Amino acid sequence: MKNENVIDDVDLFTARQQKLFRSSVAHNDLSAIIENEDCRIGMKQLKENSISLILTDPPYFIDGMGDDWNTQKLKARVKPGVIGSLPAGMKFSVKQGQELQKFLTPVAEEWMRVIRPGGFCLVFSQNRLAHRTAIALEDAGFEIRDVLIWRYEGQAKAFSQDHFIRKRKISAEEKDRLLHKIGGRKTPQLKPQGEMIILGQAPREGTFVDNWDKWETGLIDVNNPLINASQFPGTVIPSNKPKERYGHMTAKPVDLLQHLIRIFSAPRALVLDSFAGSGSTGVAAILEGRDFIGYEIESEMASRAQERIKVTCYE
Ligand SMILES: C[S@@+](CC[C@H](N)C(=O)[O-])C[C@H]1O[C@@H](n2cnc3c(N)ncnc32)[C@H](O)[C@@H]1O
Repeated sequence: MKNENVIDDVDLFTARQQKLFRSSVAHNDLSAIIENEDCRIGMKQLKENSISLILTDPPYFIDGMGDDWNTQKLKARVKPGVIGSLPAGMKFSVKQGQELQKFLTPVAEEWMRVIRPGGFCLVFSQNRLAHRTAIALEDAGFEIRDVLIWRYEGQAKAFSQDHFIRKRKISAEEKDRLLHKIGGRKTPQLKPQGEMIILGQAPREGTFVDNWDKWETGLIDVNNPLINASQFPGTVIPSNKPKERYGHMTAKPVDLLQHLIRIFSAPRALVLDSFAGSGSTGVAAILEGRDFIGYEIESEMASRAQERIKVTCYE
């Protein structure tokens, strides 16, 4: 029986979004749209308390990329994949984290406005920048409940120093001395084996029970986890990096997203991904029987994401 206290979903969208829902991928009574828009502008159209779960993967704060996140501009400026002799995203500077926090703070404030009381906000974060993500969420009013780890097997990225020594304009003896002294040591990067996901929660209205009764948020469903199905869901979640990346460098595995959606939201919840990329969260949301709204600033990526959701979930 319908809980009269739960806000009717139809009321949650602007007229334009309702039209988009109908014309794009409405099927089985579930809807998913990707708005080709800067989420900082687009989310202002969302109503207060309209979102049950935020599950998102903000851009890695790649060195030299302005806050318009124009990857085309970036590609034109640097050799593909390499920035300042290090792979994209690998150049360390204190400013990088501060800039990320500055970018995420107003986004998190908007998340706080649109999320239902008790609603969860799960944000993927490069491990070395995770504290900045957590502060942005906390400053916006989210309670940091935990940090989950997406566990995968990555590739070692530490750099040998030998070739720098060999290139030096110094005597052969001096090179040998240095090579011997460095002893094959590498730059300080262990093999990546996981990525953090910050788990924030909006303040509840009353008790857990009252909050769930009114908003259907704030409690977790551990009855039927998708990953490690026989175990109580834990904070370390194994999932292989996806083989098919749908044209996106950092596409996330759909099973991991489904697992999180299943635990942290109710059936028919509305899931928001402000940084939709190739649309992985949208696919996961529809497969889990949730509605979805995503924002993607790059037009080609936004169309591909919308198409991917249509083909994967509706054809
Ligand atoms: C890390 S990727 C997300 C990848 C995604 N999880 C997937 O599985 O494909 C971040 C995405 O956010 C987009 N983006 C960056 N700034 C944005 C903004 N202000 N509003 C909306 N999208 C933005 C980027 O173009 C990029 O596709």
